[in-house]
Amino acid sequence: MSELHHVFSTSAKALASIFTMGFVNSVQKILLFSLVFHSATIQAALPCSTDYFQKILPSDATALSALSLGPNSTFGEPTSPAYPANSTALPALCILTVNVTTSATSSYRFGLFLPEDWNGRFATVGNGGLAGAINWPSMGSIVKYGFAVASTDTGHNSSFFNAEWALNNNEKITDAAYRAIHGTVVHSKAVVKAHYSHNISYSYYWGCSTGGRQGFLELQRYPEDFDGILAGAPAWEATKYASWGLQMQMMNLPATAENHIPPSLFPLVQAEAIRQCDSIDGVEDGIISDPQACPFRPETLLCAPGKNSSGCLTSPQINTLNLLYGRYFNTDKPMFYFPLSPGSEVGWAGILTEPDTSYLRYIQLQDPNWDWHSFNYSLVEYLDATSDRSPVPEQYDITPFAKRGGKLIHYHGLADFTIPWQSSRFLYESTYRNVTSKGTNVDDFYRLFYVPGMLHCSGAVGDAPWFFGGGDAASLGPDVYGVPGFRDSEHDAVLALMKWVEEDVAPQWLVATKYVNDTVDLGVRRQRKICPYPGKAKFTGGDADSAESWTC
Ligand SMILES: *[C@@H]1O[C@H](CO)[C@@H](O)[C@H](O)[C@H]1NC(C)=O
Ligand SMILES: *[C@@H]1O[C@H](CO)[C@@H](O)[C@H](O)[C@H]1NC(C)=O
Ligand SMILES: *[C@@H]1O[C@H](CO)[C@@H](O)[C@H](O)[C@H]1NC(C)=O
Ligand SMILES: *[C@@H]1O[C@H](CO)[C@@H](O)[C@H](O)[C@H]1NC(C)=O
Ligand SMILES: *[C@@H]1O[C@H](CO)[C@@H](O)[C@H](O)[C@H]1NC(C)=O
Ligand SMILES: *[C@@H]1O[C@H](CO)[C@@H](O)[C@H](O)[C@H]1NC(C)=O
Ligand SMILES: *[C@@H]1O[C@H](CO)[C@@H](O)[C@H](O)[C@H]1NC(C)=O
Ligand SMILES: *[C@@H]1O[C@H](CO)[C@@H](O)[C@H](O)[C@H]1NC(C)=O
Ligand SMILES: *[C@@H]1O[C@H](CO)[C@@H](O)[C@H](O)[C@H]1NC(C)=O
Repeated sequence: MSELHHVFSTSAKALASIFTMGFVNSVQKILLFSLVFHSATIQAALPCSTDYFQKILPSDATALSALSLGPNSTFGEPTSPAYPANSTALPALCILTVNVTTSATSSYRFGLFLPEDWNGRFATVGNGGLAGAINWPSMGSIVKYGFAVASTDTGHNSSFFNAEWALNNNEKITDAAYRAIHGTVVHSKAVVKAHYSHNISYSYYWGCSTGGRQGFLELQRYPEDFDGILAGAPAWEATKYASWGLQMQMMNLPATAENHIPPSLFPLVQAEAIRQCDSIDGVEDGIISDPQACPFRPETLLCAPGKNSSGCLTSPQINTLNLLYGRYFNTDKPMFYFPLSPGSEVGWAGILTEPDTSYLRYIQLQDPNWDWHSFNYSLVEYLDATSDRSPVPEQYDITPFAKRGGKLIHYHGLADFTIPWQSSRFLYESTYRNVTSKGTNVDDFYRLFYVPGMLHCSGAVGDAPWFFGGGDAASLGPDVYGVPGFRDSEHDAVLALMKWVEEDVAPQWLVATKYVNDTVDLGVRRQRKICPYPGKAKFTGGDADSAESWTC
């Protein structure tokens, strides 16, 4: 038993009750060794066993484990390479894990939280990066709204950054691209209906980054899967993205070159960007509301003779900055993706490092030995030309989703250093053109919200308000869900989406919240309206930290 990492408050007694209640068959006994759980009481108002679920599942799916936990439980998968965190304060629920075969060489797992106090709705959460892991922490945030909620490992077991699983296995690439998440939705809906003996009233999706991309692919390819989709910072144009990332990294290499900017100087650049760009919106608050409107001149940081060199940049270093901001391109480096923005520098230390080429080598080039030192621009052109043969052609006709009443809330941080915010504008504009050409009004079902100062999917520069609930609530703590203190459709994007779908009341704005030090218990630092693109929040006077002082 010592190998079971779980802690029971009623310990042995509760554990014994799981086994004696017959919830653990031999398969489960093995799997439970990698799951962590803690429950004060073990309840089972509704059945929760692998035998029971196996009868519901079709023949391509095997129930791996089923676990019934009482209120205020803890659950986690500590050996998960991407999502090892526990969810805490869970409601009483049944936790099901399923394995689904998709081909002779591929299969995926999915997890499903089935709360006893069910709100009649189904939700799915997406993944991040190349994460081959069930996103239990985000499920933990979403189940607290009362949803039955699912997540898939997308068909492989890996960290956010490792693509080795994709070598010579197009089936796994297809699973990761869209097949696993769609299959998870189809199987989960069947289980939810049977488990509660009730139809699902509405289905929702939340995901950011890769999860944002999964959301868009879902609504394009399987418009019947969801009624509402909340998609953040989608990793769009993935075929261009990997070579762009490498090019950005190479611009600041090698570390011995005179053009190299040591990460220790990024905060200096950020401070100068904020100094030059902050007040354009009329409020000096450390937040760049509109990076595009700011003609940032890093040249002000140029070292003067005798100037302390840890507080200034050389001319070759300034040139590197101008390449990263995309304001200058040699004729052999045309713009093929989007630049980094002034205000995003706080995250550069994490991305402008030794090139991470896993995606390029194992997915795009299928050549583990490819050496990034051999990178040249013809590779960019080659990868771009092969994008049509990608397993996921990107489409912009989402009228079938609109016609069945689907609603889409899309958001992106304006200080995102991982996926430039312009990528979302490209996606929005491409969709806008396509949908409008078919006579459908985009505003009626799709709104894009840019969040000033927000980083990639969670967190923000300084004290910029960025938080509006959803699956990223887990980033504020394992028991946080929704927007504590403000669980309403103005502050919580999940509730806003539900109101749009179920009552046809579209969000005119969302109010983003910043808790002091991103700690809920320390109270609210600042709130602000964020507006549907192309609108912008405008200060109307009064307390700039209050959402009432801003209008869209
Ligand atoms: C939930 O459990 C935690 C410890 O795991 C405990 O501190 C807390 O008081 C419990 N809450 C309720 C409402 O029982
Ligand atoms: C995933 O891989 C890790 C090792 O990186 C391992 O500990 C874990 O058991 C694996 N999980 C599954 C579900 O295979
Ligand atoms: C998860 O919970 C278990 C049992 O409560 C605990 O032993 C473990 O350290 C927790 N893991 C993390 C990552 O917090
Ligand atoms: C899932 O099923 C496949 C066969 O399709 C098998 O190879 C794989 O080991 C199974 N995974 C788990 C975690 O049972
Ligand atoms: C589910 O909906 C279908 C029609 O959409 C209806 O025929 C069926 O009776 C419903 N089932 C339950 C359990 O409500
Ligand atoms: C150089 O400038 C940096 C930052 O502006 C400061 O922290 C450091 O103390 C200065 N060093 C000297 C020797 O003045
Ligand atoms: C550019 O890279 C490609 C692919 O690695 C290689 O085939 C080609 O010879 C390179 N071109 C030059 C000019 O180095
Ligand atoms: C809209 O998208 C469809 C499918 O992706 C494509 O065939 C069509 O050419 C697009 N139309 C416009 C006007 O972009
Ligand atoms: C917030 O964090 C800052 C920097 O870490 C610290 O100085 C400050 O005391 C914290 N504020 C509170 C209220 O804990």
